[in-house]
Amino acid sequence: MIFLQRIEPLSSTYTYLLGCEETGKAVLIDPVVNRVEHDLGELRGLNLELAYAIDTHIHADHITAALELKRLVGCRIAGPAMDRLPCVDVGLEEGRPLRVGSLCIDPMHTPGHTDSHFCYALADRVFTGDCLLIDGCGRTDFQNGDSRALYHSVTQKLFTLHDDVLVYPGHDYQNRRVSTIAQEKLRNPRLGQNRSLDSFVDLMAQLHLPYPKFIDHAVPGNRACGVCPPDLPEHLEAYCGQMTQSQQG
Ligand SMILES: [Fe+2]
Repeated sequence: MIFLQRIEPLSSTYTYLLGCEETGKAVLIDPVVNRVEHDLGELRGLNLELAYAIDTHIHADHITAALELKRLVGCRIAGPAMDRLPCVDVGLEEGRPLRVGSLCIDPMHTPGHTDSHFCYALADRVFTGDCLLIDGCGRTDFQNGDSRALYHSVTQKLFTLHDDVLVYPGHDYQNRRVSTIAQEKLRNPRLGQNRSLDSFVDLMAQLHLPYPKFIDHAVPGNRACGVCPPDLPEHLEAYCGQMTQSQQG
């Protein structure tokens, strides 16, 4: 398998490129709209054809590149079926793997950060989106977030994977790139060391995080699979890169 992990620095989002060496087909997990040209350049350099752009959830902190990638290279857009987004070509459901050449991607419904959040397991690794982060987890105070659901998603789904499974998160704000299930069980300050459900719910209720600065633009844009809003304030324009002009034009 061909594998690349790339960071989008504005939102500290990790995008993952997975490629099948036999068929030359590839997928991008959580691509970001201001990195489209960069991602397509990497695919070209590796002689890979993008089959799917896949999102873990409807993001609130960046705009997905799915629609722009489809427009430019004709890939299909895949994402959680339960979101029922008209722009999604292939709705993903737990128990129904997505096969791309020799890659077999297992969707796992992991609600809590959002109610329709999915993680994707593939061979020896799992892409955990904003459910499980390295030494952390996604916030649960927006988008039908639910700290009880997140606790169950992590402890009853992700933590039942093999200890050596590699954990590739949707973000990291300290440039850490990968963890393992065993490491998160042991070290995660929010969910490790067999923390109890009640203690986790209390902890999440006391975080008092600031209102996400991009959410009011990102969520509607991502419900359309990645449309940059025309009314983006100047200080947020970098989140769309050159896409604001190209989508308007
Ligand atoms: Fe998120």
